[in-house]
Amino acid sequence: MVSTDEMVEILDKVYDLPTLPTVYMRISNLMNRDDISVKDIGDVIATDQSITIKILRLVNSTFYGFSRKIVSIQQAIVLMGFNTIRNTVLSVSVFDEFSEMDNEYFNLNRFWQHSIACGIISATVDKSLNTGFRDEVFVSGLLHDIGKIILNKYFSTEFGQILAHAKKNHTSFYESERAIIGFSHNDLGEYLCDKWKLPFPLVESVALHHQPDNIRSSPKLVSIIHLADTFSYYLQSGYLNDFKQPQLSPFILEELDIKKETVRDLFKGVKQEYEKSMELFSFIN
Ligand SMILES: [Fe+2]
Ligand SMILES: [Fe+2]
Repeated sequence: MVSTDEMVEILDKVYDLPTLPTVYMRISNLMNRDDISVKDIGDVIATDQSITIKILRLVNSTFYGFSRKIVSIQQAIVLMGFNTIRNTVLSVSVFDEFSEMDNEYFNLNRFWQHSIACGIISATVDKSLNTGFRDEVFVSGLLHDIGKIILNKYFSTEFGQILAHAKKNHTSFYESERAIIGFSHNDLGEYLCDKWKLPFPLVESVALHHQPDNIRSSPKLVSIIHLADTFSYYLQSGYLNDFKQPQLSPFILEELDIKKETVRDLFKGVKQEYEKSMELFSFIN
């Protein structure tokens, strides 16, 4: 068993902790200024060719649903706005950073499929309930399980033990993590997102998507991620890492002001959108 403090100590000593491409940081810094222009942001994005290509592919996918073809980054910024473009840079940067990491316990493709599904479902729920998070909710859904990558990379022996324990005892991966190592992918994800200086609501949804009733400041956002995570389980006939059906926290029904019947209706609507996740996956990959 390792305490969360000890976990932080271990990770603080890691020299090759994944970093975000500087493009994201530079855009975030620019956005703190009052006098930013489309050209400024466009110039920063253009310094990274891989990100530029992926953004253009992504904005031309049916997920964004623009009626005409977007051919330049500047055009994309005008149509999407600064905030959405920053979140889109974050989404594609994360894919770039973690594009190779398969091993016997971890299937990266399957991981991203779940993550994208959760992003798309979160965005659909946000639209249906009119909660107004827009692209912020997509990127939160996309990153919610990012701690599993860190767990697999830096605690790979433990990762195997956690999986074996979950399988044997028919528990969720999250419960098994807590039983075996005493911390979870939520703690690891929080650590990483903090290091990356991501916005606090996003960090919170990564940290608390399995315990939404512990939320400090963004209960609606975290509730949507929790709901979308549960929906993804049923749509994808389970995850690779879970051996128990997830339970929807009653807290989120209250927080989102919905009834159980609404959850059923939402699920029906979400199914169709989920199909898009596979398309988006091929765009980013
Ligand atoms: Fe999770
Ligand atoms: Fe998940």
